[in-house]
Amino acid sequence: MLENIDIGLIKKELRDQSKNYKQNFINIEQFIKNEVQEILDLKKNNKPIIPEISFNDINKKKFELLEDIKKRGCVIIRDVFEDTLIRNLNNQLEKYIDENNYYEDQRKKADLDKYFSDLKSGKPQIYGLYWSKAQIEIRHADQMAKVQRWLNNLWIYENEEYKVFDPNKELSYADRVRRREPGDDTLGLSPHCDAGSVERWTDKNYQKIYKEIFEDNFEKYDPFNAKFRDRVIEFESPAVAHVFRTFQGWTALTEQGPNDGTLQLIPIAKGMAYVLTRALQNDVPESELCGSKPGRALSVNKDYHSLLLKGLISIPKMKPGDTIWWHPDVIHAVEDKHSGKNFSNVVYVGATPYCKKNLDYTIKQSKKFLEGKSPPDFAAEDYEVNYKGRVKLKDLSLLAKKQLGLEDWN
Ligand SMILES: [Fe+2]
Repeated sequence: MLENIDIGLIKKELRDQSKNYKQNFINIEQFIKNEVQEILDLKKNNKPIIPEISFNDINKKKFELLEDIKKRGCVIIRDVFEDTLIRNLNNQLEKYIDENNYYEDQRKKADLDKYFSDLKSGKPQIYGLYWSKAQIEIRHADQMAKVQRWLNNLWIYENEEYKVFDPNKELSYADRVRRREPGDDTLGLSPHCDAGSVERWTDKNYQKIYKEIFEDNFEKYDPFNAKFRDRVIEFESPAVAHVFRTFQGWTALTEQGPNDGTLQLIPIAKGMAYVLTRALQNDVPESELCGSKPGRALSVNKDYHSLLLKGLISIPKMKPGDTIWWHPDVIHAVEDKHSGKNFSNVVYVGATPYCKKNLDYTIKQSKKFLEGKSPPDFAAEDYEVNYKGRVKLKDLSLLAKKQLGLEDWN
């Protein structure tokens, strides 16, 4: 399938949508320059860049904050969980790992995943665990659902043709945990976007999503309009998520800040416009898309995107129970080295609203849950099948069952 893509032809079609693709890029570049300058100025003056709100305030109408989230494409929601609860869950997770001899298991299966076997310490940083009590409690908590609904409602989820998703019902995308040891320098991730790489140019529905960008109407492009986002088709690859997330995100299990090997973002919601139109310029080889490869994460690199990269910032200090959320088009990275003193641990939980695409995945995922296996989007390591303390059907709340597609939402 991939061999059949004629990148040169696709570029021609996309260029033809614009009256002048070079001028279109120059206009977008100017916008990005201003955004980057704003970020640099705020950074210089030690002012907050990523919008923040406390969990208790999310239902207060704060127009300015909402505008800011839409501009930056990310938000920190603090104190979603109480410190003591999270500290407890973090300890329980550690116990789950130790009692079930995860490290031994993982060494045995290392040939399945060369990445782990290369680690000097022998300990992984990302754990192929999905169904521990700590993860389930966080993923299916009432307050998590409240946050996810609030985030989903930032999107335009209905249009003249169809309803894209129901913002007030959510499905659950089981993901892994990160437990990063102090001193670790093996987990750095270079700047990228998930949810498709080459697809963002080649897929018919992605082309519709980004139509205004290619048609010189960049100002009108709204990254929070969900139309067609549920209809994009990803290339088959273990690196690609098969769900539509309104936001990717994680919940902090431990305190962590800049230099603790944490997340970095380019907080520009429309940053994708630069990446898309950059690839159409004449200095990029005709068969290439600035380094993006099928089945991999979308690459943002210094050869082509140095302007954008100036806007890359580390997220501020996070406390246990704080959460960070970013739009699926927001470029992100992970710091190369953890120079802090404590473990920096997170549970990945994004926002996956109720729609057909997400339900289809959830149904496949639910079978894996019942068997204690790894979810369909991840390597079939299946560590937890016989783990003591793994969450079973009988342990789930009604909300959790609905979110896992094991009970009807209606
Ligand atoms: Fe990512």
